[in-house]
Amino acid sequence: MTFARNQWYVAAYGREIEHELFARTILGEPLVFYRSEAGEVVALADRCVHRRYPLSESRLVGDTIVCGYHGFAYDKAGTCVAVPGQARIPRTARVPSYPVVEQDSFVWVWIGERDRADQALIPRAPWLADPAYTTVCGMEPLAARYELLVDNLMDLSHETYLHGGYIGTPEVANTPITTEVDEDNRIIYVSRHMADAACPPFYAKSTGIEGRITRWQDIEYHPPCLYLLHSRVAPVGVLPEADGSDPHGFHVEVVYAITPETEHSTHDFWAVARDFALDDRGVSDFLRDSNRTVVLQDVTALDVLERVIQAEPRGYRELSINIDTGGLAARRILKRMVAEADEPAKAPAT
Ligand code: FES
Ligand SMILES: [Fe+2]
Repeated sequence: MTFARNQWYVAAYGREIEHELFARTILGEPLVFYRSEAGEVVALADRCVHRRYPLSESRLVGDTIVCGYHGFAYDKAGTCVAVPGQARIPRTARVPSYPVVEQDSFVWVWIGERDRADQALIPRAPWLADPAYTTVCGMEPLAARYELLVDNLMDLSHETYLHGGYIGTPEVANTPITTEVDEDNRIIYVSRHMADAACPPFYAKSTGIEGRITRWQDIEYHPPCLYLLHSRVAPVGVLPEADGSDPHGFHVEVVYAITPETEHSTHDFWAVARDFALDDRGVSDFLRDSNRTVVLQDVTALDVLERVIQAEPRGYRELSINIDTGGLAARRILKRMVAEADEPAKAPAT
């Protein structure tokens, strides 16, 4: 298994889940979601205990799912509350339910042992639900393993080659990175600060800056699921004030949630939050279209890579260089998370 279980994953945007049945597979587990009449999100295994019919293909009556095949009925906890043709409900008639938390516009679901779910472990992306920012977002299905998306996002030098004309300029690939790994908190930081760079259309058209820019990219990856890119652009030479305020900088918080769907497919959630032109719909439309184009350029490349990997002989070895430092650190931490999740839970001390 290459997934890290016993972790929180983004299952959906909150706005995707309404009072109707919604299917999505997370870490190979088919789940059904709905919003209850009281407004909280429910997540259950999407498989009737009777003959495996998908509950997502069934009917929601109030807060009860009535299986579309023979009518077993399940409450919000997944407990069967009615079966057809008999009063006695078998004791084992229940489907697993999954812990869910709505935070920062996302629906997070815990995949693993229920009693290990701790809401405090969910990393934050506060800009997405902050009125001081305007956010555009989407989700693209990726026919590639999630590790390829992690690699892709940890090394932005590919912007120069894969995203030229959108977000890439020569300075991105030419500027060295610094990488730091917080082993205790399991956060990987990769920074690239360009003092004097061409302004790509993504930022020229959205900020209105003319001419060259100072461009900072500060990545923060919280494995396995949440990736943050703190992006700052300003006219060349314009830096934050001595007190840390930054009235002349433009800030864009690019957020990705990387959620494995299966061993070979991924939900690629992306969001772009900005602290300027807050009410400008033209800027929102432009950033949404541009970022989606950029994400689809990655999707196309990673789908190709997945096919290459599946066709190659066992034992093929890649070559890594400095730009891969962050990606290699991410792989190392993910590997540890996968191994830990496969260990049996520690017995309580006696
Ligand atoms: S499969 Fe669901 S009730 Fe028979
Ligand atoms: Fe990319």
